[in-house]
Amino acid sequence: MDNKTLREQDLKHIFHPCSQMKDYELIDLIPIKSAKGVYLYDYDGNKYLDCISSWWVNLFGHCNEYLNDILMKQSGILEHTIFAGFTHKPAIDLATRLVNLTPDNLQKVFFADNGSSAVEIALKMSFQYHKNNNKVKKYFVSLDNSYHGETIGALSVSDLGLYKEVYQEILIETLHAKSPALVDEDEAINDMERLFKENAGNISAVIIEPLVQCAGSMKMYKPSYLKKLRALCDKYDVFIIADEVAVGFGRTGSMFAFTKADIEVDFLCLSKGITGGYLPLSVVLFSDDIYNSFYCDYNEGKSFLDSHSYTGNTLACAIANGVLDIFENENILEENNKKIALMEELGKKFKNIKNVKETRQSGMIFVIELNEVKVSKRINLYIFQEALKKEIFIRPLTNNIYFMPPYTITKEEIKYVFDSVHKIIENIPDDYFTPTPKTSHNV
Ligand SMILES: Cc1ncc(COP(=O)(O)O)c(C=O)c1O
Repeated sequence: MDNKTLREQDLKHIFHPCSQMKDYELIDLIPIKSAKGVYLYDYDGNKYLDCISSWWVNLFGHCNEYLNDILMKQSGILEHTIFAGFTHKPAIDLATRLVNLTPDNLQKVFFADNGSSAVEIALKMSFQYHKNNNKVKKYFVSLDNSYHGETIGALSVSDLGLYKEVYQEILIETLHAKSPALVDEDEAINDMERLFKENAGNISAVIIEPLVQCAGSMKMYKPSYLKKLRALCDKYDVFIIADEVAVGFGRTGSMFAFTKADIEVDFLCLSKGITGGYLPLSVVLFSDDIYNSFYCDYNEGKSFLDSHSYTGNTLACAIANGVLDIFENENILEENNKKIALMEELGKKFKNIKNVKETRQSGMIFVIELNEVKVSKRINLYIFQEALKKEIFIRPLTNNIYFMPPYTITKEEIKYVFDSVHKIIENIPDDYFTPTPKTSHNV
């Protein structure tokens, strides 16, 4: 079996996610045969260093022996069971451990199986909490440039036209505030307060991606904004939903990004890294007070009846416990600090390249933003293909090249990637950029 044969078979029947299928006339779809550590291997014998953790999910390398072992053992005991009326130890252990890892106000856990569903659950619960307390608060506020997933509710609170514009007529009406990642922090907070005043009593929750707007070109902001947002939400009686689907589990340097602001949030959505990239799973954490608002006799109509067939999947929960074991046993956050410092040091030399506008870093996420590019030239495809030639898999967000590698990446591998990408950027032909490139450099 080779790449070409599998590619042809694939394209006969499969519609891939986040893809314009016609692009596969220009770029080769890559069938992956196996993976180990940070490397993916195809059927033609090529390898690729997975610099984006396979869509930000992988934490401890592919085919991790410790996690493989857990999966094998658990599949011989119990693979899955209905989660209504039944429960299982991996879910109980996981819920207990997550509650212990998060601030004291988060005491209850609702399970689902992907990030978008976690967002939907948090939105629905926050709306229904108010309704259970005889208040109808119909609006959610999100930030400009935000991304919270692809289901209708999650898209409604997102702000990336590319994904949502076409569905505008069927989305729910939401409010958008200026993002501290795009404008000055005080301007962003003032804009939020303006919305709170204009829609007083009608706002159920604000949903945010703490510190990094990942799909929004990895734009970053400071914890101080979150502190101000918490004060504002307390003043106007609005919930905060922290969507840590992408940044949870150590990505920004701390286990959960919002804790850097030393605040509590009302809902915490987690997914992706929760199973280290093994299986689909998500959770929403919230307070006893919120839980109690749904606790009543069945016929009172205040129940939260959301469910998904694979909710609390046993294999996924067992793996998630394994992920938490690794964090504990291998002192991961402290070990990551050394890699974070290395990335910061090596990243400095990007600042001298002509077409680099700025670099950004939040923990294990490093971004190089290039000057403005011509849309027609598809710079992301060019860089993706050049990187593949160097056995590196990166997937730029237009002119933002980012690294978000598995935490098991070695220092040598980080050096290799940074050196290689440096060369790739130096050699991008000038005609990819708009005629008057911005001259500002680096933050
Ligand atoms: C912040 C954030 N929220 C939600 C989602 C949606 O998660 P999923 O793709 O698992 O539905 C994503 C996906 O990238 C995300 O980055």
